[in-house]
Amino acid sequence: MPRRSRTAKKLAQRIELSYFERPHPLRRWRFILSVALPVAALLWLAVVRVSGNRTPYSMGPVSKPHAFFGGKCSACHVADTVSFRHPVTDQACLACHDGPVHQASQTFTPSCSSCHAEHLGRTQLVAMRDVSCTQCHASLSTRTGAPRFVRTVLSFAEHPEFAPLRDDFKDPGTIKFNHSVHLQQNLLGPGGRRVRLACNDCHRPGAAWGSWPYGAPGVQAVTLANGAQFAPPSAATPHFASAAQKRSELAYMAPPTYANTCFACHALEFDARFSQSVPHDTPAKIDAFLRGVYQEYVSSHPSALRETFLPPRLPEKPVPPTPRVLTQDQWVAEQTATAENLLWRKTCSECHALTSSAGNSLPAIVPSRITIRWLPSSFFSHDAHRMVTCESCHSRIASSQLTSDVNLPSVRTCQQCHAQRASAAPAGCSECHTYHDWSQERIYPGKFLLPDLLKSSRDFAPAVPSNAASTVAAVVR
Ligand code: HEC
Ligand code: HEC
Ligand code: HEC
Ligand code: HEC
Ligand code: HEC
Ligand code: HEC
Ligand code: HEC
Ligand code: HEC
Ligand code: HEC
Ligand code: HEC
Repeated sequence: MPRRSRTAKKLAQRIELSYFERPHPLRRWRFILSVALPVAALLWLAVVRVSGNRTPYSMGPVSKPHAFFGGKCSACHVADTVSFRHPVTDQACLACHDGPVHQASQTFTPSCSSCHAEHLGRTQLVAMRDVSCTQCHASLSTRTGAPRFVRTVLSFAEHPEFAPLRDDFKDPGTIKFNHSVHLQQNLLGPGGRRVRLACNDCHRPGAAWGSWPYGAPGVQAVTLANGAQFAPPSAATPHFASAAQKRSELAYMAPPTYANTCFACHALEFDARFSQSVPHDTPAKIDAFLRGVYQEYVSSHPSALRETFLPPRLPEKPVPPTPRVLTQDQWVAEQTATAENLLWRKTCSECHALTSSAGNSLPAIVPSRITIRWLPSSFFSHDAHRMVTCESCHSRIASSQLTSDVNLPSVRTCQQCHAQRASAAPAGCSECHTYHDWSQERIYPGKFLLPDLLKSSRDFAPAVPSNAASTVAAVVR
């Protein structure tokens, strides 16, 4: 086979040099499109202009709670009289809801939109980057002198240890309680039974689940002996009106009370002749209770007045000569004194510190001061962590012997799960902290007319300029 000779010159001769002068469908289309497209764009802009829809100028959809008025740019973008810009002002946001200030002592107040980013699609408005917080917390200063809190918090990975675990802080509670003794195997339970206590025999969230196994019969609500109520009574099966209610009611543990958690094993008996206990209440109420009980007893047992009276062997009390005949009042006073002596010295003081004061024959109970919120500067939810055992976080509890121990988890425990990794629980500052001081929230009455709010902006100018801005300014002042 002869080889075809293929030189550059022969190849060049194949190309027709005047090709661009001939009409060609591709070139014709290029011309048509270069005229038609700008015309179409201009037409579209004109239509958009006439229709009043501003969405094409937007950077992207606004967040979910704002989506219903996302086309009304002027609800957030307020016309600037000096330039053509339509900046987002705090006043615009405050027309619908408050964003109360963080701390009265802060040196400046960042704008709402510097933290709550918009046009990022249907994202969570409250999910923000740490820099929103670290702009101040990387080196905290206040208008009022030295900050009361750790000055430098850069990220959760470098987060300071929680305050109650620093500087040898002691639990301020005064109820004598030894976790180690009560968590032992084969603890002597009610009626001589041997039991093994579990954490949730004494610690449950505010909304009580079921009944308290060692509580007084029928006691459900957590009512402290000093009268404070921790949570309203709830049915045996908890039923929550909303997820938000569930979230708040199951977040923290209710304080353990005598009535719910100690009652069955530590009865407040006062006299072998009576099976009942004194009420768990103030010494004055107990005194009145005892007088009532003895008065009633002696009315139905008049012979008691002539009985040989043998008080318990108390060295400092001289034993009166026997037999005696007493008046009812004398008898009641003596019986009460004896019972109270036992109660104050032994029964109550097993758990309480008691103080006596001149001028009062009855002692006073030192306030119990059981801490309900240990970490008030943050939010925590036991319910969100129910997948791990109590001891994973409260690791020293089984060996804790003193009330003054603070058996809270260190920040290092939290950092094992909460970290800036794809495979970790969230670690942004706002996962655990609120920013706004919601106790200062002001409620503004609505100012928009419904059709007006749903209608897309014809212009950036606020549709309700007359009163909206001025009323807000008035409320803010
Ligand atoms: C819920 C309030 C809200 C609505 C409604 C809204 N925006 Fe925005 N927009 C913002 C925020 C917040 C920013 C960020 C401003 C900043 O960084 O200071 C922004 C920024 C912008 C920017 C970037 C320029 C700039 O000023 O930073 C454009 C462009 C924009 N918006 C257009 C629109 C258009 C067009 C509409 C109506 C279709 C609209 N926006 C509706 C809140 C809103
Ligand atoms: C026209 C009224 C209106 C305006 C203007 C408005 N918002 Fe809202 N915003 C709402 C409504 C309604 C909700 C949802 C109801 C609620 O949670 O209070 C909401 C919710 C929010 C939330 C909670 C979001 C969530 O995920 O729970 C944030 C944060 C917020 N707005 C910030 C802003 C900021 C910042 C601005 C100004 C750029 C702004 N809003 C302007 C009406 C408005
Ligand atoms: C330094 C960042 C920052 C600034 C500035 C800021 N916020 Fe917030 N905002 C947050 C964080 C964090 C949350 C979620 C935690 C909370 O409720 O404090 C939040 C929550 C909200 C909520 C939602 C409340 C809910 O129902 O869940 C609204 C509404 C809100 N902010 C409005 C505003 C307004 C209005 C402004 C401006 C006056 C503003 N924010 C300024 C950080 C900020
Ligand atoms: C404008 C500056 C500023 C910004 C932004 C800021 N903080 Fe603060 N923060 C302060 C000041 C000031 C204090 C109070 C310091 C004091 O009283 O000693 C404080 C106190 C705190 C405290 C402890 C006090 C308490 O109980 O509330 C926490 C927690 C906190 N901030 C979290 C945050 C979070 C989370 C963010 C971001 C969403 C944030 N801060 C953004 C200035 C700021
Ligand atoms: C018999 C009831 C009882 C049982 C069972 C019990 N606790 Fe307690 N717990 C208390 C009382 C009472 C207090 C308050 C007095 C105190 O601070 O020691 C308390 C306090 C606490 C505190 C608050 C911080 C502290 O150190 O005071 C934590 C945390 C705690 N208990 C965890 C647990 C865990 C975890 C278990 C299970 C391993 C458990 N408790 C079992 C009665 C009990
Ligand atoms: C299941 C029964 C049971 C419950 C419930 C119970 N205790 Fe006890 N408690 C005991 C027994 C048994 C002892 C004696 C243990 C020993 O000495 O080994 C004891 C001992 C004590 C002591 C003396 C501890 C010591 O250091 O030796 C105190 C104080 C005490 N309990 C307080 C409480 C308080 C407060 C509650 C409720 C929050 C409570 N107990 C609930 C069974 C119980
Ligand atoms: C087994 C332990 C125990 C015994 C025994 C005990 N208490 Fe208590 N007491 C508690 C606990 C736990 C609290 C805190 C929670 C509550 O209010 O029930 C408390 C709280 C109180 C309070 C409220 C004080 C405050 O500031 O919260 C009074 C009053 C009180 N007890 C009186 C008495 C009297 C009087 C006696 C003796 C008759 C007694 N208690 C015996 C465990 C005990
Ligand atoms: C996983 C939960 C969590 C995250 C994430 C978190 N914190 Fe905290 N933070 C806490 C807890 C818990 C405390 C202790 C609160 C207390 O003592 O009342 C605390 C305390 C603080 C305090 C007070 C410090 C002091 O003096 O005791 C500041 C300020 C603070 N955090 C800022 C931040 C900032 C800024 C971020 C984001 C970079 C952040 N935190 C992220 C849980 C968290
Ligand atoms: C993921 C860690 C974690 C786990 C798991 C955990 N706790 Fe806690 N617990 C905490 C933190 C953090 C606090 C401090 C919360 C506060 O008061 O601000 C706390 C506080 C407590 C308190 C004091 C009262 C209160 O709510 O503040 C008790 C009691 C308690 N925990 C018992 C338990 C019991 C019982 C379990 C198991 C059912 C358990 N905890 C599981 C972290 C944990
Ligand atoms: C076993 C891993 C683990 C540990 C340890 C842990 N967390 Fe969490 N935490 C989680 C998970 C998972 C969630 C749920 C995340 C979500 O809802 O997106 C969560 C949620 C939270 C929330 C939000 C709860 C809510 O209802 O919104 C807070 C606040 C929090 N953790 C604080 C802490 C603190 C403070 C500690 C340390 C005392 C801690 N966590 C320890 C895994 C953990």
